[in-house]
Amino acid sequence: MSQSVIDTLNNRVSIRFYTDEPIEDALLERILQAARRAPTSSNMQTYSIIVVKNPEVKKQLAVLAGNQKHIEVCPVFLAFCADIHKLEVALHMHGHELKKSLETTLVASVDASLVGMSVQTAAESLGLGSVMIGSMRNHPKEVAELLGLPQGVYVVYGMCLGWPDKTQVPPQKPRLPQDLIIHKERYNSSDIRGTIDAHNKELAEHYESLGRNLDEAAWSGPIAQRLHKPVREELRKTLESMGFSFD
Ligand SMILES: Cc1cc2nc3c(=O)[nH]c(=O)nc-3n(C[C@H](O)[C@H](O)[C@H](O)COP(=O)(O)O)c2cc1C
Repeated sequence: MSQSVIDTLNNRVSIRFYTDEPIEDALLERILQAARRAPTSSNMQTYSIIVVKNPEVKKQLAVLAGNQKHIEVCPVFLAFCADIHKLEVALHMHGHELKKSLETTLVASVDASLVGMSVQTAAESLGLGSVMIGSMRNHPKEVAELLGLPQGVYVVYGMCLGWPDKTQVPPQKPRLPQDLIIHKERYNSSDIRGTIDAHNKELAEHYESLGRNLDEAAWSGPIAQRLHKPVREELRKTLESMGFSFD
């Protein structure tokens, strides 16, 4: 029995703890085939999905992602790849070289993102739990080697899938006030600070109710800590060496 899309989306949280129950191949296939109906730029389908069940590979991916245990213990890990390799092959079939650019990199990364969201929604509608893993970009080259990716393919993000351990389902995190996200006709930049302040307090209360004591700036504080210095400084160079262009 599947939930309605609206219920699935309204109820979702990231799930990082799973039961030992495997995910049946037929169910995974159903999810992946449905997700492949996701829209894709100019029907190019510039993505690939690597399905990883091998415990040893998941273990190594968990380490590369900064020791994220959920990657090791989930029954299925999916790597969503931007894939311009197949475009290059298609162009070679016509005697052309692919003119790589920022646009081809973005198109492939957006395509990979869209199909992953469809996978997540389809999986969660069937009762599975999941969490996306951006830390696949901590060591993109090592991840690519482990998964046998050719030039022109990188893992944009991963996704753990499994049956939720019902005893460890976290409560939903409050989202930013809608005024900061949904703009009517034109972007509304008034009182962004005030709205962030209000959200900081709401999130601090949420964490406090869970016994976690964060400072009062529970949303903006950690973000400021993280982003006042470069993050993944080598990423551009590494992805260029893997066949992507940012020009
Ligand atoms: C692109 C992307 C990358 C993420 N990377 C990680 C990750 O590496 N590890 C992790 O535990 N959660 C990761 N998350 C999950 C977010 O932390 C989570 O979605 C966010 O805190 C909101 O919580 P919620 O999904 O429960 O509402 C990622 C989410 C997205 C969309």
